[in-house]
Amino acid sequence: MTTPDPDRASAAQVFYSRWAPGYDRLATHAPGVRRLRTALVGSLDPAPGDTVVDVGCGTGATLPYLRERVGSEGAVVGVDFAPGAVSRARDRIERAGWDNVIVCLSDATRLPLRDADAVTASFLMGMLPDPAATVEGWLDDLDPDRIALLDLARSHRLPGRSLNPLFRLVVRASAPPGTADHHGESPTRVLDRRVAAAHRTVLDRCSAATHGTRAGGFAYLSAGRR
Ligand SMILES: C[S@@+](CC[C@H](N)C(=O)[O-])C[C@H]1O[C@@H](n2cnc3c(N)ncnc32)[C@H](O)[C@@H]1O
Repeated sequence: MTTPDPDRASAAQVFYSRWAPGYDRLATHAPGVRRLRTALVGSLDPAPGDTVVDVGCGTGATLPYLRERVGSEGAVVGVDFAPGAVSRARDRIERAGWDNVIVCLSDATRLPLRDADAVTASFLMGMLPDPAATVEGWLDDLDPDRIALLDLARSHRLPGRSLNPLFRLVVRASAPPGTADHHGESPTRVLDRRVAAAHRTVLDRCSAATHGTRAGGFAYLSAGRR
């Protein structure tokens, strides 16, 4: 397993804290994002009464979708390591008046939670130094029955593929510290590699695993049962 670099982690924490208000608008209202979150939660398929963990929950844009599925008798636990994002997610929970949704300030690679029924993460894998090991750890330690991941990476499909140069520019411009590694690899290559490793782990480790792309092949969605 790659050892987390504390400087990179704290730079990403500062980045997501600083940009939390703008990120929140994008994460909630960007064209097509609602459809992607609906598909993510649909493939996770939580049942009423389940406890679901949303790792790297950011400002909590997926929390309403999860809360709707688990109902008032279930629980949703968001986890994020950026204090600004966590506080924004907590505002969202307070505004909605949910008493069974909480958000914890914690690192995705060291989750303090057990007994979850399902775990999900959206747009997180590209930020983890060793996403395959992290996903393995969740499946082993957290003991969730189900997992679903949603990430963006370069498209391999036409016509989306023709927009890869634009995607590369957007990734370069918006990459938080820690997305690029020490060896001069471009942020987009790092993103592609990490997303592929995480999703492959779901397909290798889970039964009834599903994988597909959306949004012109830029959005990768994988899910399965342990
Ligand atoms: C691109 S945002 C996605 C937020 C949210 N999941 C969404 O769909 O809008 C990535 C989030 O992951 C968090 N994050 C990155 N690395 C993390 C880690 N090692 N532990 C916990 N959170 C992490 C960041 O703070 C940020 O809020």
